[in-house]
Amino acid sequence: MKNYIKADEWQIIEEGFDPKLNEISESLFSIGNGHMGQRANFEEAYSGKTLQGNYIAGVYYPDKTRVGWWKNGYPENFAKVLNAANWIGIDINIENEQLDLATCKVLDFKRVLNMREGYLQRTFIAELKSGKQIKVNAKRFCSIVDEEAGAIEYTISPINFSGAITINAYIDGDIANKDSNYDEKFWDAVNSEANNNEAYLTLRTKKTLYEVCTGACAHVYKNGNHAGVRYVGSAQEKYTSTIINVDAKQGEGLSIYKYAVNVSSQNYKSEDLLSTCKKILNEVSAKGFDNMLAEQAAAWKEKWNESDIIIEGDVAAQQGIRFNIFQLNQTYTGKDDRLNIGPKGFTGEKYGGSTYWDTEAYCVPFYLATASQQVTKNLLIYRYKQLDKAIENAQKLGFNNGAALYPMVTMNGEECHNEWEITFEEIHRNGAIAYAIYNYINYTGDIDYLQEYGLEVLIGIARFWAQRVNWSENKGKFVMLGVTGPNEYENNVNNNWYTSTIACWSMEYASDAVNYVKANSDKKYQQLIKKLSFNEADETSSWDDICKNMYFPKDENKNIFLQQDGFLDKEIIPVNYLDPVERPLNQNWSWDRILRSCYIKQADVLQGLYFFSDKFDTETLRSNYEFYEPLTVHESSLSPCVHAILAARLSREDDAYNFYLRTSRLDLDDYNNDTEDGLHITSMAGTWMSVVEGFAGMQVKNDKLSFSPFLPNQWKSYSFNITFRGALINVLINTDGICLSNYSTHNVRINVFDEHCDINSNAQIFVAHKVRV
Ligand code: BGC
Repeated sequence: MKNYIKADEWQIIEEGFDPKLNEISESLFSIGNGHMGQRANFEEAYSGKTLQGNYIAGVYYPDKTRVGWWKNGYPENFAKVLNAANWIGIDINIENEQLDLATCKVLDFKRVLNMREGYLQRTFIAELKSGKQIKVNAKRFCSIVDEEAGAIEYTISPINFSGAITINAYIDGDIANKDSNYDEKFWDAVNSEANNNEAYLTLRTKKTLYEVCTGACAHVYKNGNHAGVRYVGSAQEKYTSTIINVDAKQGEGLSIYKYAVNVSSQNYKSEDLLSTCKKILNEVSAKGFDNMLAEQAAAWKEKWNESDIIIEGDVAAQQGIRFNIFQLNQTYTGKDDRLNIGPKGFTGEKYGGSTYWDTEAYCVPFYLATASQQVTKNLLIYRYKQLDKAIENAQKLGFNNGAALYPMVTMNGEECHNEWEITFEEIHRNGAIAYAIYNYINYTGDIDYLQEYGLEVLIGIARFWAQRVNWSENKGKFVMLGVTGPNEYENNVNNNWYTSTIACWSMEYASDAVNYVKANSDKKYQQLIKKLSFNEADETSSWDDICKNMYFPKDENKNIFLQQDGFLDKEIIPVNYLDPVERPLNQNWSWDRILRSCYIKQADVLQGLYFFSDKFDTETLRSNYEFYEPLTVHESSLSPCVHAILAARLSREDDAYNFYLRTSRLDLDDYNNDTEDGLHITSMAGTWMSVVEGFAGMQVKNDKLSFSPFLPNQWKSYSFNITFRGALINVLINTDGICLSNYSTHNVRINVFDEHCDINSNAQIFVAHKVRV
């Protein structure tokens, strides 16, 4: 665990430069706008350890799979998000000495991520080998208003000298992915040009043939006025730049404004890319840095209005939650149903920038409550559009009749993962996709979604489950053999309770959806029957039969569901008996030892109890929580949040708070020693859930919001805004109780501590705390 980030409510602050922490900071201070994003690399040259990262949403490359032992059914490719052209580069050369913080003496250094207004700032004083000292103030952002554009203000001031400075504002397209399987570079050069202060570079991805045109222009100002310098363009294959020679005077500020635009063939015809890039670049540079930044601040103000959580009395917790919300909003804006949320967003290459079950299981609740309905709908449509590929994927594994198995990891709908125990066996992901449809409709009331898109997906998923189970003569029940549950520290187990539970739930929900669509839109229903060759009577009765006769392992004495067959044969020794030096287990134990042990990577039975808590009584929740939590090592970032929510539901408030702290500052404090690879974006949505669904106990029951809040002892109050069915509602919890304000034009019905309340438009209600049992 590291502790170098200064506490602040709205900012992430690093003071002093420690090269050992640089890659962690590059992740933490990442910026993005849903369309593109980047790690907080330096603008000027840096010869120290760094992970360069610039990413453009949806632009990926199917890298050829590399495995030791090929197994039939493995995907041919592993699609990964591409490290794209570096558009931030501004090299500074002072009388033949390069400004490079790895070789200079760094006298002063401060890096700030301003989350309120959405920009990154860095100030430092560097002393070159010659003794020349220079002060730099660099500010940059990816615009959430002009989402194809970014802007940089880079001000240099010679402290103790006057002399010639050469500025090289460049775009570098000779980029490689660190995780390239065969050390291959994924971009081909298409075009490169530079005229005066404008430079353009067009690159094309191999295989997928995406074209991206990156353009940048530079303007140099001296003390607030055009510096009257000469701009010299230079274009080479995969590298274009604008070179400027200036005579800098001691104490005089010299500002380089660099505007950059990335346009891709996903959105424009290839032949129009260059002209579109020029047009947008001219528009943003005419707008100017200060105006762009003012628009950025105003747009972020709106985002915060929808999604902020305010915590009074605990700056570390406040900074933690805002950091999570900020990064989520930088990663996904929901405007494009071809895009999704990679576990690392735009902050690193790990996990290939691909889509995981994380989106449906963890991110959906955040976007449902803090953004317009269309944002989550687009996440669901993304999977709808990939249904054909999910059917192909299932066919490849031997399933038929339109059975769909969504991939564990994907970019374009094809499976990318290639570890047999996950690719073939971690099939619970299919259930999360069905659950997200339910969650979306339950939250928004948009039941028409079923006939528009949802039912087709649900039928494909239900068909898969119906074929995946088999009848056990021995048990006289249906069983589900050879699976991996969410707890990846068990592989190839039989009857994982969570997987069987979500499988049956998906089949029941698909049956309900069939009935609903049939009753409400017979025309649409008849079209679907035809399209899917759906034999309603046979298929739904088979789903029903399976659900009624499914085997679920449990232990009646302990009143627990068994994670899988035989779980109690393990030696059950709680995690706190382990020697701390052996943790994390995945870095210290052999894999077979982990598999034989009772230790659980992340919520598994408890994931099911979180999704379906209303189906179980409190005693069942309690006995399962008390049995499984002490065996859980939380070595997935997705784990603490689910535990925080369940702990809160069981009134274990201290546990809930501790799990919250762990999830909210996971990256800021580098708990898992892996922040340098990128941030844990998808688990950040879990942090939001810990507060809203955990501490505030928010649920949607029978079309009504309900709350059952508590206030952590460490806080004076917390409050947040949510949007529910068109109403913006503010929820404030303090030492006295809960205050709900309805900022909409219609009345809202809410349950608080199981009591019904009506809140009129623009009115407020207050309910005192109840003792929670
Ligand atoms: C977790 C998975 C998750 C993946 C990406 C893994 O460590 O076990 O549940 O989908 O990370 O976040």
